[in-house]
This record gives sequence, structure tokens and C-alpha cells, in this order.
Amino acid sequence: MDDFNPRTYIAALLDSRRPGYALPSAFFRDERVYAADLEHIFARHWLFVASEAEIPEAGDYKAYQIGPYPIFILRQDDGSVAAFHNTCRHRGSRILQQESGVVGSKIVCPYHRWGYDQSGNVVDCGPGNDVELARGLRLKPVHLRNLSGLLFVCVAENPPADFEDLSARVTPYLAGHAVARTKVAKQVDLIERGNWKLTMENNRECFHCGGHPELLNSLFHFLGDIDPATLSEEERRVYLRYEESRRLAMESWNRAGVPWQRIEALHGRPTGFRTERLVLEGAGESMTVDTKVACTKLLGSLTERRLGSLHLHTQPNAWFHFLSDHILTFAVFPIDSSHTLVRTTWLVNADAEEGKDYDLEKLTQVWNATNHQDAQFVAETQLGTASPEYVPGPLSSTEFLVDMFHRWYDERMRAGLKI
Ligand code: FES
Ligand SMILES: [Fe+2]
Repeated sequence: MDDFNPRTYIAALLDSRRPGYALPSAFFRDERVYAADLEHIFARHWLFVASEAEIPEAGDYKAYQIGPYPIFILRQDDGSVAAFHNTCRHRGSRILQQESGVVGSKIVCPYHRWGYDQSGNVVDCGPGNDVELARGLRLKPVHLRNLSGLLFVCVAENPPADFEDLSARVTPYLAGHAVARTKVAKQVDLIERGNWKLTMENNRECFHCGGHPELLNSLFHFLGDIDPATLSEEERRVYLRYEESRRLAMESWNRAGVPWQRIEALHGRPTGFRTERLVLEGAGESMTVDTKVACTKLLGSLTERRLGSLHLHTQPNAWFHFLSDHILTFAVFPIDSSHTLVRTTWLVNADAEEGKDYDLEKLTQVWNATNHQDAQFVAETQLGTASPEYVPGPLSSTEFLVDMFHRWYDERMRAGLKI
């Protein structure tokens, strides 16, 4: 292994990938691929970590592990949000050691009690307090962008500049849903027993949605352009219902003045993304079992319930559903090559009261069930693709977003490795 060259090794693996097919097994379990993923994907791109609602008060923080980088985000006393490397400038201990918590105006490293102000400057060097030792030292900042209340970080020295383009194009879509005026109704962490790419692939298609009975109450799984001539009789019946729902939804969308046009930008750029407002089944209001709103106090100043679901996908680690009554955010964090944390957060209007405006069980039922089903799909695929007999099979046309994810991954790995 002495002459192991990651560039030629990963290049050969990428070359072995057949476009339009599932990925070869190595992409899901090879530790060298996983190391390259952390270095070239997770350490170089914008990652969604949290919404502002997760750190509502001054001093609130949340800590993350991005590959080898411990970092944290912090709500400062002036109300703004900052991100820092969670590595002490003395001898390197992690400073904030819980996943979330509250700090005062001084952040103290538990090891030798160096203290930092909320801007990261060293203000105290512990017992003896010889601050001269630390003159000019401060916590290293992490790049942070706030997309209408959704917080993205990038640990690279020079983060991709095209986040600004995403921001300019997506901000009008998010405006009505008032992300910054929400509160967390519920957050659930689920560890999927699979590689992070399987988690993302699974999210990028609804070919498997027959395995989501709760979700199918509200979801038409028509995505992209549909040619009715290719549909079965049963599917055509659903498609007619879809067209009628779409007509009604359009009226609501126009009345509410919310954008709905699809933007397809999932590859061909570092900060890949896609958005589209989808029509929902039944009452068309929300992703609930009865397809009606779960929270009667709508988001922001919305008055139209039938807004469907605004989908937003961002590469490499997130997806979102914005409804009229609540928002779902999903953040994906690799734990190791075969374990992935999926963090789901349900956001509702900050003024909504549980038990009065919304019922937590109704709000969370569909996606709690769906997430567990997805975790099973991912775990089984991790096991199945480990077989020496596994041969990547062809993607169907409805899996076009999986193909786009592969293309983006291939592009970004080659860009990172300069191959
Ligand atoms: S490592 Fe933080 S104070 Fe010493
Ligand atoms: Fe799923």
C-alpha cells in the first residue's frame, strides 16, 4: 500500500461508474472513498446544518462534526449567527462538548479555562491569566450563509462562490414561508445503517414510494415532465386526479403570489440545487395523513392552505419541504462509511401553540413513519451491495434525480482531485 495514490485510485473507480446505473459497491464501503468524500465533498461544499429556529436565543449553540472538523454555530448577543471551529487555540481541546447548549458572554474551554468572547477572541487565559500569551489569537471562523433562516456552513478556506446565485434564485420561493419566523416543534435524529450516498440517493427518487403508505396519502409521485401515453391505466386515473389538483393548486399559488416554477441546477456547479412546488393529493394542504394542515396557524402571513409542497434539494446533504403550515428540514451527516445521521426538524409558526394550533402527533406522523421506512431501505441496500455478486443495475427514468446526484458527485470528486 506504500505507493497507494488516491488520485489514480479514485479516478479509476469513477471511470468504472456506468452513467445511468447504480454506483459500484466501493462507493458505499471503501474507506479510501469515504476519506475522499470527507475531504473533497464535505470539507469543500456548503452544508445545511440548521435553521435559525434551532438557536433562537442569544448564547444558544449547536455543535457538529464535519469529518475531522468539530465546529459550532452560535447565536450572538446582538442576534446574529456565527460559526467557528470548535478547537481551542491553547492545546486544541474541543471547547463546546455537548451537541447543543447555551453559553454566556464568555465561552470557556473546560480544559485549562481559556475564555473567548462571542466573536471568538481570546479574552482570558485561565488561572494566572497571562493574556499576553494569547495576543491576537481567536477561534478560527467557519464560513456561514443564512438563506432566509436556513444556515449553511463551509469549512473550506475558499467556499464555492455560487451559493450567492442559489440564494438569489431561491430566496423568492422561501419568502412566503417565513422560515426565520418559525420555532422547532420537533427534531428527530435517526442513524441510518448505510453510506451517506445511499441516504441521498434514496431521497432523490420516489420509485420506492410504494413502501411509504403514510406519505402516499398526500404525495403524487409525479415528478418532472410526465408523458401520459407512457402510463398504465391505473396511473392514468391518478394522473387525471393530479391534473385537477394541479389546476386548483395553481389558483391557490397565484392568489398567494408564491413562485412554483421548477429550477433544475443539481449538477454542473459546486452548489447544486433544485426546487419545485409540488401538487399534493386529497385536500392538497399538507403532508399529513388526512392531507389537511396540521397547524392551523399558517406560516408567516400566509392565508392560502393549499400551497402544496415546495421542495428544495441541495447538494450534498439536505432536502426540505415547505408547506403552508409547517416546514420540514432534513440534514445528512456522515458518521462513518456505513452510518449516516439523518436529522429531521419540523418547524411551525413561532406563535403557534401545541395542543391549540397543532397536534404534534398529527404533525410528525407521516415523516416519522417515512423516515423509518427509508432507514430500512438504506440499511438493506448497504448489506445487499456488499455482496461480491452485486452488479450495479440500470436506473429507471423516474430516478433521474439519482442520476443527477451521481453526476454532481462525479464532477465534484474530479474537481477536488484535479483529475
Ligand atoms: S486546551 Fe483549551 S484551555 Fe487548554
Ligand atoms: Fe423514501
